[in-house]
Amino acid sequence: MTETPSTVPLEKIPQHVAIIMDGNGRWALQRGLPRLAGHKAGTENLRRVIRASVELGVKYLTIYAFSTENWGRPPEEVKGLMYILEDVIDRELNELHKEGVQLRHIGRLERLAPSLQEKVLDAIEVTKNNSRLILNIAFNYGGRDEIVQAIQRIIKDGVPPENVTDKLVGQYLYTVGVPDPDLIIRTSGELRVSNFLIWQAAYSEWYITPTFWPDFDKEEYRRALETFAHRDRRYGKVTSGELQETNA
Ligand code: IPE
Ligand code: IPE
Ligand code: MG
Repeated sequence: MTETPSTVPLEKIPQHVAIIMDGNGRWALQRGLPRLAGHKAGTENLRRVIRASVELGVKYLTIYAFSTENWGRPPEEVKGLMYILEDVIDRELNELHKEGVQLRHIGRLERLAPSLQEKVLDAIEVTKNNSRLILNIAFNYGGRDEIVQAIQRIIKDGVPPENVTDKLVGQYLYTVGVPDPDLIIRTSGELRVSNFLIWQAAYSEWYITPTFWPDFDKEEYRRALETFAHRDRRYGKVTSGELQETNA
């Protein structure tokens, strides 16, 4: 059931959308609220965007929820963000499971409280056979950390240097088996990658909007997908149109 009919042709829907959900703090500040209120509003919005992804036919959704650098925030905020993850799993797991969402985690679990680690692992286990939408939650995730770990494991496995290829590296990343993101959305207008999927984003298309994450609604999501549908992805080559002209 689609509330807002999508104008994006089905074949142009990105298979994998990744989102840097940014601007919760500024959203709260604008309203004279504590930053955590912004994170809560952001979480409400996430629920809407997950639902819209299912409806629009996106197959993989990766969301950046907590970076390896976010530990540097005030302890109260860090604690609040941990609590929010726990609360989201408690409150949303059943519904997500019913909708056919498969939960996955990318990043390091070790530094989280044991009870939270358990909760995440349990949610992954419960939803592992779902296939309507693969939802990768990047929590305590850092792109450099991911690559460093991959290199360490490649060395440990005794892989001969000549066997280290682009493809092999991909197999050592958290995202093994997941196609690279077609579209990366960043809210709140920041023009930087902030350590998100730095390997996988080699040829992703970017959509940056000044809208703060809690306000990034379905309309704007659809607009992002529409913009993507008109992009000419060249991968370093020339467009098919240009090729015809050259050959003429
Ligand atoms: C994004 O919002 C959420 C996290 C990084 C956890 P921010 O908290 O970064 O919001 P701003 O950028 O300060 O507005
Ligand atoms: C990126 O946002 C991390 C998440 C959205 C989880 P930040 O707000 O942490 O990024 P910077 O500090 O502005 O680069
Ligand atoms: Mg931010």
